[in-house]
Amino acid sequence: MTMTTRMRPLRGQVTVPGDKSIGHRACMLAAIGTGASEIIGLSGGGDNQSTRHCLSAAGATFESGGANVVRVEGRGLRGLRGPGDPLDCGNSGTTLRLLMGLLAGIPGESFTLTGDASLVRRPMERVAAPLRRLGADVVTAPGGRPPVGLRGVTLTGGRVVGAVASAQVKSAVLLAGLGARSETTYVEPIATRDHTERMFVALGLPLVRVGDAWTLTPVDRVPPHRWSIPGDPSSAAFWCAAALLTPGSELTLPGVCLNPGRTGFLRVLERMGAEIGVEDPKMIDGEPTGTLTVRYGPLRGTTVTPDEVPDCIDELPLLALLATTADGSSEIRGAGELAVKESDRIAAMAALLRADGAHVEVHADGWTLAGGHRPMGGFIARTHGDHRVALCAALLDAAAPAPVVLDAPEAIDVSYPGFVRALADLRTPSARLRDP
Ligand code: S3P
Repeated sequence: MTMTTRMRPLRGQVTVPGDKSIGHRACMLAAIGTGASEIIGLSGGGDNQSTRHCLSAAGATFESGGANVVRVEGRGLRGLRGPGDPLDCGNSGTTLRLLMGLLAGIPGESFTLTGDASLVRRPMERVAAPLRRLGADVVTAPGGRPPVGLRGVTLTGGRVVGAVASAQVKSAVLLAGLGARSETTYVEPIATRDHTERMFVALGLPLVRVGDAWTLTPVDRVPPHRWSIPGDPSSAAFWCAAALLTPGSELTLPGVCLNPGRTGFLRVLERMGAEIGVEDPKMIDGEPTGTLTVRYGPLRGTTVTPDEVPDCIDELPLLALLATTADGSSEIRGAGELAVKESDRIAAMAALLRADGAHVEVHADGWTLAGGHRPMGGFIARTHGDHRVALCAALLDAAAPAPVVLDAPEAIDVSYPGFVRALADLRTPSARLRDP
């Protein structure tokens, strides 16, 4: 981005990619469905594509069904097959962890699940241990990491009390329970995003909730479905931040998933003084959606408490960045999970923000952030190959007077291919008007 375009206000409408969490689940439920499903609006980002490729390798057929539509021929509840070669989950923890649950109960089929240099460092026993309670034969590599080996057996079902606040663990258990011999109950330590539950209900699967316990009765088949994937709030969050960093900006983001388990960042931003409007509410496949409008305005510092963390876990790096620019200091705590994401996001974000000149104190479970910083730029950002760190670095580049050069800009493509281009386009309206 050139000096002349980087400081311009952002005005206009942006359609964000399909929600990544829902996209993974739609691919998986379609792949074990009986018959043909369709997925409208599946993200082209690397993570959803990893899920699609793993499921294709296991025998489900994915093909284009027209613009923005993927047609999936499901193989039935126990119809996916171990291809012999390991399934490569790329950078996607959700792919690997949810596939563990999806594939553990296919008798006689063996699977090995692995991923890139980041994924093979991430903890998998948090899923393996609960699956063993349901009767699964699952092994992890030393340190509880990938590769993960599964030898498919008919699962018994059972009761699992979650030890980590993780939608991935909960979802793996519920997916495993679909084909088990008897009921599976998952007790949540803290409520996390509930896309799996909403999607099961949309399919008419027998899942009931009593307090913090979800109980699933096994089924013989999963019906096919036409899934419409709403926009990804975690991607929309970057546009909210871009507008909040750039005076004179106003952006409209239509069709964004507004599941309360994903919109904690909106609640935090509103507390910081941001003006964010929600219009045009619609339910899509059991998910609330709407159009967000965000206007530039000054922010004040805040405290993000541990109980708020699950609803904004993926947006905490971004909130940390915004907090450095706020009036007054901020505290984000209870977020130790960030250390085991695609990178150690506590350390990676502290390094990024400090490289820009901001004052950040690091804790094992978050940060204390001094406010009053204005993005400076003029450095090479270490992204650690982590898409959310890379997107934060791209935002700093756009907001600072001097460039921020990303060491691995391609990391952004994991969740948001085209983000940098879209940001540049919004800033150069005159150039676009001149285009033939
Ligand atoms: C996800 C759950 C969260 C989140 C991840 C996606 C999901 O992880 O950070 O990006 O789709 O279930 P945890 O379940 O480990 O908190």
